[in-house]
Amino acid sequence: MTTAIIGTGNIGGTLARHLVRGGEPVVLAAKDEANAAALAQELGELARAASVEDAIAAADAVVFAVWLDTTKELLATDAPLLENKIVVDPSNPLGFDDSGQMIRTLPDEQSAGSVVAALLPAGAHYVKAFGTLAADSLASAANREPQRAVLFYATDDDTAATTIERLIHVAGFEPLKAGGVADAIRIEMPGGDLHQAGLNGALLDLDEARAAI
Ligand SMILES: NC(=O)c1ccc[n+]([C@@H]2O[C@H](COP(=O)([O-])OP(=O)(O)OC[C@H]3O[C@@H](n4cnc5c(N)ncnc54)[C@H](OP(=O)(O)O)[C@@H]3O)[C@@H](O)[C@H]2O)c1
Repeated sequence: MTTAIIGTGNIGGTLARHLVRGGEPVVLAAKDEANAAALAQELGELARAASVEDAIAAADAVVFAVWLDTTKELLATDAPLLENKIVVDPSNPLGFDDSGQMIRTLPDEQSAGSVVAALLPAGAHYVKAFGTLAADSLASAANREPQRAVLFYATDDDTAATTIERLIHVAGFEPLKAGGVADAIRIEMPGGDLHQAGLNGALLDLDEARAAI
């Protein structure tokens, strides 16, 4: 299996490092292909860089580790390429206003997950995942001992669930399903009670995470 990671910033770069450390092949794409190429070179033979479209074509699973507005822009042209692919969405409903301030870009009751899922072709396998921790925690908490930290995910799709559980394990975390796409809002921030920000910064083990659900 190959995983495409679109966006090699805080989340995408961290995820690429974790997956490669776990032995998983990745194809990396960024806005500036030189950024993806530099990371691929750092990560070695399990990683390579490509354009967004070539990365999607080469992959079984595609992680959109970009801001929600960018995901929407990319899907406007690339959605048909995602037929039969696992689509992993870590986005929060956040963007920046004219002064550079981070703002919520959707109404309080609407999740980024519901927006992204609705833009996909019928044959895509959507899952909300890998956005439930702040990037620095995602970077530092992989393979935590003695109890791995949980990464929640949300999906209505069994194929996507099987794949994301494997990828979360490979990345060094414990997967736990928070619910379906309708529950994605619980694992997004701001506002999600199962997002790290809604848990006062805590990283939960499996028993704690089950209790939190
Ligand atoms: N940061 C966090 O703590 C955190 C936590 C949870 C969830 N999230 C979510 O994760 C997503 C990514 O956040 P981040 O902090 O990782 O962002 P980031 O560090 O700003 O990285 C964004 C990445 O997107 C790439 N990109 C921008 N436009 C693109 C395009 N048209 N095609 C391909 N790639 C493009 C950029 O490429 P270049 O490198 O070439 O500029 C960059 O690698 C967001 O949706 C955010 O809400 C973030």
